[in-house]
Amino acid sequence: MSEQPMVDAPYGLLAELTYRCPLACSYCSNPLNMSGYTDELGLQEWKAVMGQAAEMGVLQAHLSGGEPLLRRDLAELVAFCSGVGLYTNLVTSAVGLSPSRAAELREAGLDHVQVSIQADDPALSDRIAGTPSFERKLRAMALVKSLGWPLTVNVVLHRQNIDRIASVIRMAEEAGADRVELANTQYYGWAWRNRDALLPGREQLEAAEVTVREARTRLAGRMDVLYVIPDYYSRYPKPCMGGWASRQLTVAPNGDVLPCPAAQSLPLPRASVREQSLAAIWHDSPVMNAYRGTDWMPSPCRDCDRREIDFGGCRCQAFQLTGDASRTDPVCHLSPDHSLVTDAVDAARTVTDLQLIPRPHRA
Ligand code: SF4
Ligand code: FES
Repeated sequence: MSEQPMVDAPYGLLAELTYRCPLACSYCSNPLNMSGYTDELGLQEWKAVMGQAAEMGVLQAHLSGGEPLLRRDLAELVAFCSGVGLYTNLVTSAVGLSPSRAAELREAGLDHVQVSIQADDPALSDRIAGTPSFERKLRAMALVKSLGWPLTVNVVLHRQNIDRIASVIRMAEEAGADRVELANTQYYGWAWRNRDALLPGREQLEAAEVTVREARTRLAGRMDVLYVIPDYYSRYPKPCMGGWASRQLTVAPNGDVLPCPAAQSLPLPRASVREQSLAAIWHDSPVMNAYRGTDWMPSPCRDCDRREIDFGGCRCQAFQLTGDASRTDPVCHLSPDHSLVTDAVDAARTVTDLQLIPRPHRA
C-alpha cells in the first residue's frame, strides 16, 4: 500500500456558519438534508476553529452559509479572526446588511465583501432568488463601497440569465465592484433537480464568451471579470478546489470538516471539529485522504499526463453522475462515462422554457 503524500497547510478555510438563508435560489447547491445541520457550532467553537486554522497557516477565512448575517455573533467572530491574522471575506446575499450591521463589521475588521445577486433585472433576480431582494442588494452594495471595502459581485449564471451577461457586467460596474465573478452553476443540491432548466445551450455560451472578452478589454485595470466556462462544455475537467484536500477546506455549520462544500453528499466517514483538532483532520482523516494525490486514481486518469493538472476532476460530480466518487469525472472526454455529460448537453439544445422548481425557504 502506498504512503500518503506530505501535505501542505491549506490556504483558505470556508466557514459555513449556517445553512439558514432568507433566499430560496433555484440554483442552490447547499445540502438538502437541513435537519443534519441545525446543531450549529457556537461562537466559542468557531473561535477555536479559527485559532487552529491560523496556527496551521491558513491565510483566508471565507465566512459563508446559507446567509452568515443570520448569525448575530458574526462581528465578534470577525474580530477574533482579525486578531489571529486571518484575512476575512464575507460571502453574503446582503439581505440583512443594514447600515448598523455594516458599521459593526467594519469596526470588527472585516476585510472584503462578496455580494451575490441573481440578475441585473429586478423581476428576474427576485424570481430566481425566490424572494424580493434585488433593491436591498443594490443598497447593500452601495453601503459596502461607501465604507471603503473591496467589493466582489457574484452572479451565478445559467440558462435563464446568461443572455443578459452584458447588462450583468454593467450592473457590477455601476455598483463600483472591484471584481465580478460570473460563476456557472454547479449541479449539486437543489441545482441538480433543476439541471435541465439551468443548463445553458452552446449558442448561449458562445455569445457569453464574446461579451466577456470585450468586457475584459474595456474594463482592464478597473474591474476584474472572472468567468470560467461551465464544466459540461469543457473538454477536460477542472482541478476542483485545486485538487482534493490540497489547498482548501470547508467547515460545515455542525462542525463537519470537508475538502469542499459538496462533499457532504459523498459516502465517506465524517470528521468533526467537535471531536478532533483541525490539523489532525486535515492531515490524517479518512475523508481528507480519500482522494488526495493520485494513488486512488482509476484508468484512464492513472496513466494520463494531466493527472497532476486536473487530479481527475471533481469527485462530487463523478459521484453525482455515476454513483461512484472514485471514477474519472465524466466531464473529461476520455472518461468512459462521458456520454452522461454529452447527453445532457444534447438535451439542452432542445429545451425551450422549462420552469425552475423553487427551493423551499430555510430561514
Ligand atoms: Fe484529467 Fe483523468 Fe481526463 Fe486525464 S483522464 S484529463 S487525468 S480527468
Ligand atoms: Fe467536491 Fe469538486 S465539488 S470535489
